[in-house]
Amino acid sequence: MTDKIKQNNETQSEANCMEKIVALAKRRGFVFQGSEIYGGLKGTWDYGPLGVALNNNIKREWWKMFVDSREDMYGLDASILMNAKVWEASGHTATFFDPLVEDTKTGERFRVDHLLKEGGIDVAGMTLAEMDTIIKDREIKSPQGNPLSPARQFNMMFETSVGATAGLDSTVYLRPETAQGIFVNFKNVVDSMSPKIPFGIAQIGKAFRNEIAPREWLFRVREFEQMEIEYFVRESEWEKQFEKLRLDMQKWHKHIGLSAENIREYEVPANDLAHYSKRTIDFEYNFPGKGFDELAGFAYRTDHDLKKHMEASGVSMEYIEPDGTRFIPHVLEPSFGVGRTFTAILCEAYTEDEMNGEVRTYLKLPAHLAPYRVAVSPLLRNKPELVEKARAVFSMLKAEFGNVAWDDNGNVGKRYRRQDEIGTPACIVIDFETLGQEKPELKDTVTVRNRDTGEQVRVVISDLMSYLK
Ligand code: GAP
Repeated sequence: MTDKIKQNNETQSEANCMEKIVALAKRRGFVFQGSEIYGGLKGTWDYGPLGVALNNNIKREWWKMFVDSREDMYGLDASILMNAKVWEASGHTATFFDPLVEDTKTGERFRVDHLLKEGGIDVAGMTLAEMDTIIKDREIKSPQGNPLSPARQFNMMFETSVGATAGLDSTVYLRPETAQGIFVNFKNVVDSMSPKIPFGIAQIGKAFRNEIAPREWLFRVREFEQMEIEYFVRESEWEKQFEKLRLDMQKWHKHIGLSAENIREYEVPANDLAHYSKRTIDFEYNFPGKGFDELAGFAYRTDHDLKKHMEASGVSMEYIEPDGTRFIPHVLEPSFGVGRTFTAILCEAYTEDEMNGEVRTYLKLPAHLAPYRVAVSPLLRNKPELVEKARAVFSMLKAEFGNVAWDDNGNVGKRYRRQDEIGTPACIVIDFETLGQEKPELKDTVTVRNRDTGEQVRVVISDLMSYLK
């Protein structure tokens, strides 16, 4: 009993923790509700100045690790709008559905599988008809306690039309995954770059899904970014390459500061695999108040996509070996959501502790991800000689790092708290000692304060760059 109460308290405080993170993100300019002044648009979120900075750092680090530091990866940036035939060939037109039910009184829509899962029912591999039967037999109601409509399938692709005249020929879809942009450019990349198999094509870009029930902040939204790789291999080597990429994905999660105990790998059961996959592992993160849920996916897509595009377009998707052997490569696909990565990083970084007898909140972000690498301020902003010196240090650091904050609001203690809250790893203060006015031996030294420990050291200005690096 006591354990149960403790567990409930923990879940509640974790849920509070998520609420605090969302509130901090709004208050400090990381994430705003989409179209907020008009009451918002469900499933959309806008990244503010610090959110863009964190997002860009995530994407830059990802590109550095998976593309720039390797010889077997090629970049791509394909269009969001693609010929509708792409989605017919890939199977999305026929199968990219989510099961939907409606509250018969309010009209609110829900995903059947989510409703059943929340009721403790294992839905893995269940057909729509089976889920519908359970709803009827057990008289499952909507969260508002109203009867539910029969379950039906709902295609999640956003439809629009190109050109001046709407009609069947002009119907296109906003891509629901960036992956297909890679498959349709497979031949272009092979012809232009002559890569040696195994090799990958990487892309970062927007994807759109008309989610039935967008929820949980950035977790399930209608417009989001993906960082995806299609890694082309010989069929005989897929298992070996799968293990290599799996280790690379683990390395990535470590690199962005996610602790091992908060990550787990979930082997998706065969009866729950996507239509294109023969094996999938979900990398799950332990989100506070929610528990483990999908952060990134890793699928073995076989030769499904290239084969389908070859059949539908009539264009060969074969790879030709130097000895003339031709074959359609098989594909391994590490797929990461930027928004979920962003959320996991914030959850991991969010910390409350006590400093100088006060509770403080800070983001323990790794330096390579923090929106600001360092903040610079003059001890007093009404002393021109301090401001001038601080400006010189600021300019020097800004030329090197770019993301350097100038902060001269309020007293130094308040500046530290503000920078702690947005995760700035170090704060530099230029004081009278820097000017050599009090202790000549400290001339041209500054105070550098460490975000996590609050410790302060004096560093010679000319050593600052190497000290911070
Ligand atoms: N190309 C494979 C693919 O798209 P997925 O598992 O559907 O696979 C990959 O998506 C990743 O994209 C997920 O692990 C998740 O991080 C992110 N993602 C998918 N749908 C999302 C949504 N509605 N909102 C936010 N992120 C989403």
